[in-house]
Amino acid sequence: RGKKAFIAGVADDQGFGWAIAKALQEAGAEVSLGVWVPALNIFETSYRRGKFDESRKLSNGKLMEFKHIYPMDAVFDTLADVPEDVATNKRYAGNSGWTVSEVAERVEKDIGKIDILVHSLANGPEVVKPLLETSRKGYLAALSASAYSLVSMVQRFGPLMNRGGSVISLTYNASNRIIPGYGGGMSSAKAALESDTRVLAYEAGRKYKIRVNTISAGPLGSRAAKAIGFIDGMIKYSYENAPIQKELDAIEVGNVAAFLLSPLASGVTGHTMFVDNGLNTMGLAT
Ligand code: NAI
Repeated sequence: RGKKAFIAGVADDQGFGWAIAKALQEAGAEVSLGVWVPALNIFETSYRRGKFDESRKLSNGKLMEFKHIYPMDAVFDTLADVPEDVATNKRYAGNSGWTVSEVAERVEKDIGKIDILVHSLANGPEVVKPLLETSRKGYLAALSASAYSLVSMVQRFGPLMNRGGSVISLTYNASNRIIPGYGGGMSSAKAALESDTRVLAYEAGRKYKIRVNTISAGPLGSRAAKAIGFIDGMIKYSYENAPIQKELDAIEVGNVAAFLLSPLASGVTGHTMFVDNGLNTMGLAT
């Protein structure tokens, strides 16, 4: 039986979520997506117009397909949490059923049980501000979108997952090491995400018999990363200083994700796995 996967956090073909979708389809899984509500329209339009066709190509010559595409906003758990200004915002008003609990209900109705859950999303409205200048609101927004969103997803999707199922998220080593420029509480959010990965591995492991891991990725010039502003410098720094001197390709993260999400990794849970050309192991820049 082919595995069924739900990936939250794909809105173009440039990020890790897309590469994970591709690696999972190469391995025979069926993939559905949760796309951030304000990004859904442009994603679907680009998809329909063939803008992604080149990067949809699988090794068997076929194009990657998505079983279902749902609007989603991982900052809201239930309809009751949605404030009036968001509900009536024109980018949200045309869509419905996009809170985490509603998306889980739709997935259960359309797909039934799933095997794979991927969290590939983050948002920090004040990411360009140093922590010393970050507001309480900005800090809590970063934690809400980038860390609690995983807790919320495991709460709601855990009950829909088959035994032996597996969850992954994406993190960044700014959780452990000082990365000047990764501000707005995003470093704090990644630290929370990694700690929550361990606690969720225990709690959801016992309750649902699923595994929870996170991949600590090296720098990639995705849309989200470009918003931080210094991604080109980070890619150059990594190239110059990592044990393996090459640019990280998103599919390298996709392939490790496919491994962690497969029965090959049935003994691995609560783990933060680096996929960063080894940069994290260096103690002195060269
Ligand atoms: P991306 O831009 O492809 O993915 C981020 C996605 O999050 C976007 O599709 C965006 O629409 C979505 N999103 C934002 N807020 C959301 C919300 N409230 N609800 C639902 N979706 C929302 O960029 P990337 O870089 O692939 O990011 C994926 C993950 O990888 C993130 O967790 C990021 O922190 C992590 N990561 C990225 C690195 C990089 O250098 N690009 C390095 C290490 C980790």
